[in-house]
Amino acid sequence: MCRFRSDLPALKNKDYFNYGGQGPLPKTSLDAITNSWETIQELGPFTNDVWPFITNEIKSTKDLIAEFCGVSKRRIALTENVTSGCVLPLWGLPFSKGDRILISNCEHPGVVSACKEIARRKALQIDILDVLSMRGEIDGEGVNQNEVIRAIEDSLKASTKLVVLSHLLWNTGQIMPIELIAKLLLKHPNEPFFLVDAAQSFCQIPIKDSAAKVDIYAFTGHKWAFGPEGLGAVVLSERILKEANPTLVGWKSLTAESSIYANEISPFHKDARRFEIATSCTPLLAGLRCSLNLLKEQGTDLERINKIKLLSKRLWLELNNITSVNPILQGPPPAGLVSFTLNSKQSPNQIVKLLAQKSIFIRVLEDPIWLRACVHITSTENEIARLIAGLKKIAAS
Ligand SMILES: Cc1ncc(COP(=O)(O)O)c(C=O)c1O
Repeated sequence: MCRFRSDLPALKNKDYFNYGGQGPLPKTSLDAITNSWETIQELGPFTNDVWPFITNEIKSTKDLIAEFCGVSKRRIALTENVTSGCVLPLWGLPFSKGDRILISNCEHPGVVSACKEIARRKALQIDILDVLSMRGEIDGEGVNQNEVIRAIEDSLKASTKLVVLSHLLWNTGQIMPIELIAKLLLKHPNEPFFLVDAAQSFCQIPIKDSAAKVDIYAFTGHKWAFGPEGLGAVVLSERILKEANPTLVGWKSLTAESSIYANEISPFHKDARRFEIATSCTPLLAGLRCSLNLLKEQGTDLERINKIKLLSKRLWLELNNITSVNPILQGPPPAGLVSFTLNSKQSPNQIVKLLAQKSIFIRVLEDPIWLRACVHITSTENEIARLIAGLKKIAAS
């Protein structure tokens, strides 16, 4: 069993499969948050003594996130969650009336509704990229990469200005060929921006090649990174830093607070801080750093995803052995998200409740209505066995 698991109070007496919703917080990270909070109080909030501490907390957290993403620190803005990392830069993109947004049909409702609202206000058109139905012949990523590329080529129009796609689809669990798509978009005459929702990929699969190549790569610490809720980040391209305007402008966006009434050409930071806003919760930074360092101790990103894949394959194979269960993917999952349906007298919500009564936690996805169980490096074969036994019992009832 992964030694890291014993540091996760939330997993005591539970079989936990909701990492894609929220990961558990290690006790060590919780202590790091508390210690940071205590230090701030001891130094005195809003004192000369506390500023160097806060500055260093921000710097060391960005350094570590930069290392995880394989980009320079100047391209990272700290955010509160995935959605704000997607929509803050989205609203600043230089759209013209009639531009088109190409968005996949597997995106999270937050970013979809933001795209619809920006389209309404700026008279843009939305096109939908169908990745949901791409579950035929698959390769190692759980999807036929050529099929995705062909679909994007077919869906791009002359006036497409933005493409929105998740790196790892939260419903099917498939990995999108982000690097190949970024390359393809470079050849398009309208030079579309590329926004990638990395909610499910950050700290689950290797991301460096993708995060470095797209315009907006947004994620949170509170899912696969075992961090606290309320702290995320977004990697922005140099092009975004040059061409997109800050949106929710606040004092953190500014190079200096003095002479702000003067007629400066641009008061904003030239780096990703132009998308940061104002006061945020400093102690969370220590919690996220602690969790990221604990993750590093568990192995390289490749070693970690290989472990996750062994567990998800095990779960997928066991699901295939239950006649009334239909896994969504036709082959072993490329990562830790395993979605399926179960033909039963019980509704999906009732199934989730029945399992929860046995302290087994999975979730229902709303659209399509599927069940989803996630495994992480902290999952165990015994947990999987108990989930399978629970599902078999429900199927037989
Ligand atoms: C793919 C995806 N995007 C966005 C979100 C929303 O995350 P947040 O609440 O951090 O904005 C989720 C949450 O489950 C998600 O799975």
